[in-house]
Amino acid sequence: MLTLCRALLLRAPSAGQRSYSATSLKNFIVQHTEVVSEHLTPELRLHLLTPRCKHWYLPSDLWPYEDPYWAIYWPGGQALARYILDNPDVVRMRRVLDLGCGCGAAGIAAEMSGASYVLANDIDPVAGAAFSLNCQLNNLKPLAFSTENILAREGENWNLIVLGDMFYDEKLADHLHLWLRHCIAKHKTQVLIGDPGRFQFVSHPIQKQLKKMAEYSLPERVQQENYGLSTTAVWCYEP
Ligand SMILES: C[S@@+](CC[C@H](N)C(=O)[O-])C[C@H]1O[C@@H](n2cnc3c(N)ncnc32)[C@H](O)[C@@H]1O
Repeated sequence: MLTLCRALLLRAPSAGQRSYSATSLKNFIVQHTEVVSEHLTPELRLHLLTPRCKHWYLPSDLWPYEDPYWAIYWPGGQALARYILDNPDVVRMRRVLDLGCGCGAAGIAAEMSGASYVLANDIDPVAGAAFSLNCQLNNLKPLAFSTENILAREGENWNLIVLGDMFYDEKLADHLHLWLRHCIAKHKTQVLIGDPGRFQFVSHPIQKQLKKMAEYSLPERVQQENYGLSTTAVWCYEP
């Protein structure tokens, strides 16, 4: 697990997930994570896997589910949530999609900042249980969550799509690029991307059409857990 978390061996979860009841998933998450607020958005409390959790140090094959991306609050997601909380007008009265939500912090920030509707989407169903628990921790009613691979169909009419740390794989980055461009052309959707400057993002052709909205220094602890990445940023995609 340590290897997974620190080396950022980012792979998309496979479709062959075992199915578990929502209750057993939630119990598992509560038991194997801790509630953390030492990150860029200390006003949010999240169930996360940290070096203080036993599974952080255990081999990842002892983890009974797919790799727990939802158990990490990725620097890109942290930048997005910080930006939304500091600039509530970007979401107020708007329909917001948090694509690849993981722990769901950006969606939670959008709900807390006055979005009219938030959908958190992640192909990993365990992320849904974590998102639901994280909503509860932040005194929110459960928000909408879907596991559908919405990249496989045409984008709907969202006012805003936020993506935290989603440009971690070249093929996925290419797919996202085309899909987002289509959403913007068809629906005039606004797209905000949070990323700490990963290679697949900074080397992608999308770079030519990005406007930097904000940059943040990462807290010491987040830097240590992310191989010394020191900053993270929010970009608006404007093709
Ligand atoms: C690096 S994590 C980022 C999580 C969160 N956005 C954050 O910044 O903390 C990437 C997430 O994208 C999800 N993901 C990968 N491909 C996806 C797809 N096609 N549709 C929805 N989610 C996807 C993964 O399951 C994972 O939770």
